[in-house]
Amino acid sequence: MSVFFTIHTDLPREGPGCRESLDWAMSVAQPPRNARICDAGCGPGADVARLLDHAPEGDLLALDLHPDFIERVARGWAQDGRVTAHQGDMATPGGPFDLIWSAGAVYHLGVTEALRGWRGALAPGGRIAFSELVWTTDAPAVAARSFWQAYPAMTGIDGLCRRIDAADYRILGERLLPQAAWRNYYDPLSERVARLREGADAELAAALDETEREIAVWRAHGDDFGYLLCVVEPR
Ligand SMILES: C[S@@+](CC[C@H](N)C(=O)[O-])C[C@H]1O[C@@H](n2cnc3c(N)ncnc32)[C@H](O)[C@@H]1O
Repeated sequence: MSVFFTIHTDLPREGPGCRESLDWAMSVAQPPRNARICDAGCGPGADVARLLDHAPEGDLLALDLHPDFIERVARGWAQDGRVTAHQGDMATPGGPFDLIWSAGAVYHLGVTEALRGWRGALAPGGRIAFSELVWTTDAPAVAARSFWQAYPAMTGIDGLCRRIDAADYRILGERLLPQAAWRNYYDPLSERVARLREGADAELAAALDETEREIAVWRAHGDDFGYLLCVVEPR
């Protein structure tokens, strides 16, 4: 098993998120009860149940590149015919969908590129809700800036709005995820790191160090950056 999955297997989610924010996004997106939904970059499927709560007569395609995540979603939803778990590239999700939900995954494609590509995957009136990492200050701490150099496309909120505009989409609502959403991701991850420390070989130890560094940057400077949850539709 890769070092990544040694650390990440069976975590509840793979990025910040919370029920309250998803509910807010659905109150803006207003998918029909029978909506066709795509969870693009679904990871372990943390949001699948809540998305379906908002479209109880609909169906959901859970899409991710990684077979381990897709197997987990397929196993968890084997008894529910509304959910299809599919290993594939979210750049070409199929469709048409009334809603594309993408929590913390759009950065893999680039915001403008993803939104442009998904236009043809939306049903008439279809909407997209996605979260994306942004700076919340013009002067972030050096440690935060240094850590997130790994993601050079990261901008402030204005920059993200411009990237959405460049794809010719209108923003229906946007708001930062609360700190609770980060804890939903980082608390179980911290516990996992602590548990794996003992007996870790050099490769695993290096990956654990990097994970701890990410969490430490958030604990110390989490006000300098955040995930902006955006609900958008094509113009
Ligand atoms: C930060 S994780 C978020 C996962 C999940 N949405 C959550 O909030 O727990 C990003 C996910 O995007 C997936 N991913 C990355 N590139 C992808 C692609 N081109 N197509 C489908 N999934 C992709 C990764 O495998 C990973 O599961």
